[in-house]
Amino acid sequence: MDKLRIMSVFGTRPEAIKMCPLVKELAAREDVESLCCVTAQHRQMLDSVLDVFAVKPDWDLDIMTPRQTLSTITSKCLTGMDEAIEALKPDMILVHGDTSTTFAGALSAFYHQVPVGHVEAGLRTYDKYSPFPEEMNRKLVSSIADLYFCPTVNNKNNLLREHITQGLFVTGNTVIDALKTTVRADYRFATEELNRLPYGEKKVLLVTCHRRENYGEPMRSIMLALRQIAEENRDVELVYPVHLSPVVREAVDQYLRGAPRVHLIDPLPADEMHNLMARCYLVMTDSGGLQEEAPALGKPVLVLRRETERPEAVAAGTVKLAGVVQDDIVTMAHRLIRDKAAYETMAHAANPYGDGHACRRIADAILWHFGRGAKPEDYTA
Ligand code: UD1
Ligand code: UDP
Repeated sequence: MDKLRIMSVFGTRPEAIKMCPLVKELAAREDVESLCCVTAQHRQMLDSVLDVFAVKPDWDLDIMTPRQTLSTITSKCLTGMDEAIEALKPDMILVHGDTSTTFAGALSAFYHQVPVGHVEAGLRTYDKYSPFPEEMNRKLVSSIADLYFCPTVNNKNNLLREHITQGLFVTGNTVIDALKTTVRADYRFATEELNRLPYGEKKVLLVTCHRRENYGEPMRSIMLALRQIAEENRDVELVYPVHLSPVVREAVDQYLRGAPRVHLIDPLPADEMHNLMARCYLVMTDSGGLQEEAPALGKPVLVLRRETERPEAVAAGTVKLAGVVQDDIVTMAHRLIRDKAAYETMAHAANPYGDGHACRRIADAILWHFGRGAKPEDYTA
């Protein structure tokens, strides 16, 4: 029998961190030719992940430009994908999550009548503009996909409510598979500044911020809140690997740079980031992925957004919505910095997102779909 040609398509940092373990799992299956097509919607931040996981793409659309618009990303991906699909002739295309690459990858597969597997399916806020454009991207991909790999039962239920009833699997999130390969107790940072941080003596706050719906006033308020927290707490060191987006870097330069106890650094390779998270005191972020990783590492998270599509972590008690108003963010951060009992209540390892075997279940489900294996059991937390 011919091998199944399964093509994973991704383009940004978080997709790469969550898809590289799957590309490798598929490559280890006898029945599968694991193909990898990157759009390079992100360039440096994508390449860094490919290096960490030692994944070599079979096709690279290389689309990134500075300050790219949503339309440019989508149209360049669509055009580039035509060529990739014609050359690599996949039997199935896998996309991940909710980026512009995800949407364009799924749409392009549909145009070529190639079935689509959606990894990290079923997340919802039910707010069309938040996160923007991600909520719409993932809804549109739900209409196109054939197989849905839901991290949690809650995600599966979201799809069932939308009358999507076929091809659903609860797998856990592949980010937990990734974390299991990167976090080590004896890890030594390649970035020397991180080895020197006073982890035990001071409270290391790990911060990231990049979302499009936070551009403008919300991002200004977030930066001012971070400045205030650093200025008013001598026992804090704030570490912020700044996203390469010029919009984000301008806001950081304007409102945060120069504040005491603030370390503004370049984006970290995934293994450095994961190990820093494992050692920090508190995470403050608008990132989706960090809301899944930090609870698994026992770190409280304040989410710098108005909503979250990850209610499981909120229910587990390790993630709280801080919003995007300066005073609210400062009040919530101060509570966790100054009130030991409040901190301890949030700081416990809770992992609603998987057991590290999501990739195995996804690969099994794909083989089952093509009549080449048994149907995998759903993951239960
Ligand atoms: C994208 C995703 C978002 C995801 C985020 C992860 C969309 C619409 N947004 O947002 O869902 O949470 O990635 O980080 O798909 N840049 C570089 N080098 C890089 C990466 C980015 O210079 O390696 C700069 C470029 O100027 C680029 C800009 O950042 O134009 C923005 O990148 P883009 O992918 O458009 O948006 P993100 O905010 O990163
Ligand atoms: N991350 C990283 N280096 C950094 C910041 C984040 O490797 O400097 C990782 C982080 O651990 C997580 C992923 O990138 O795995 C999250 O990506 P991002 O916040 O860019 O996107 P989102 O998850 O919000 O879509």
